[in-house]
Amino acid sequence: MIAPLTHAVRDQPLPEIAETVIEVRNLTKRYGRNVVHQHLNFDVRRGEIVAIVGGSGSGKTTLMRQILGLEKPTSGTIKVFGQDTSQIDPEEARLMRSRMGMLFQQGALFSSLSVFDNIAQPLRELGKVPEELLRDIVMLKLEMVGLPCKNASKMPAALSGGMIKRVGIARAIALEPELLFLDEPTAGLDPRASDEFVELISALHRALGLTVVMVTHDLDTMVALSSRVAVLADRKVLVAAPVEEVAHVDHPFIREYFLGLRGRLALQGLSPERRAKLPSEALEPACDAIALRTAM
Ligand SMILES: Nc1ncnc2c1ncn2[C@@H]1O[C@H](COP(=O)(O)OP(=O)(O)OP(=O)(O)O)[C@@H](O)[C@H]1O
Ligand SMILES: [Mg+2]
Repeated sequence: MIAPLTHAVRDQPLPEIAETVIEVRNLTKRYGRNVVHQHLNFDVRRGEIVAIVGGSGSGKTTLMRQILGLEKPTSGTIKVFGQDTSQIDPEEARLMRSRMGMLFQQGALFSSLSVFDNIAQPLRELGKVPEELLRDIVMLKLEMVGLPCKNASKMPAALSGGMIKRVGIARAIALEPELLFLDEPTAGLDPRASDEFVELISALHRALGLTVVMVTHDLDTMVALSSRVAVLADRKVLVAAPVEEVAHVDHPFIREYFLGLRGRLALQGLSPERRAKLPSEALEPACDAIALRTAM
């Protein structure tokens, strides 16, 4: 299904890459003796779609949670929209959070609330949105994510995995955020639902000029959406660059992840100009990758 939004923004230019909106400096995060991040640096500029990749337990979710202010760094600084998150008062923190939307890795929706109430929840938390306006906003968000209004009264248990993700996105964009965080948005989706999800994020990026930070294990989604890929390994961001540059970095995780069979197959989704910049190992032997695709 192609959402009307995708049609509407087809010819719209991509948002311009502008000022730095997230600046993480010398970040260290420890849980007891477990050092998750050490001297980590990471930047995101307005208009970018940055994919964070890394092994399980490498600290991707923890990094996002610290940027969102849900978890405190052990040391180091995090600036969002130019403001140091450790120096702001609760009111400023609330305002900052309203400029950020989040789709969590687990528990995307409240199971006891209808679709309508799930999407309305961040607006109700604001406390002063009249019911009639609330209804219009919720219906508009549902339409934006390509779900017919008739789904508004359904409970999450009655939705497919792809629909749950869409409702999760509708809720994340309810307050019209400037920054959207997605933690494994396509996990558990079949390839078609993943493709639709990529289309939706791409359309929202154009329509709302969103900046997106996305954690993903899904190489196809990463290649299709990201302007840069940040690789989390050895407790830091090893590199944050377009994927064709990342593939040149000599590191065991990067070699295995990007130059393995799955990686090479996904990299075939790049445009010819970007593919021309890949290291030769990423391009050959492509026949293995094609054989894998045929077998899937
Ligand atoms: N609240 C917490 N208390 C203690 N340890 C934690 C907590 N949250 C995360 N950790 C630890 O921090 C490390 C990083 O976890 P995190 O969830 O950020 O990894 P991840 O990269 O998102 O992994 P995955 O790909 O499996 O989602 C892990 O060793 C985890 O056990
Ligand atoms: Mg995680």
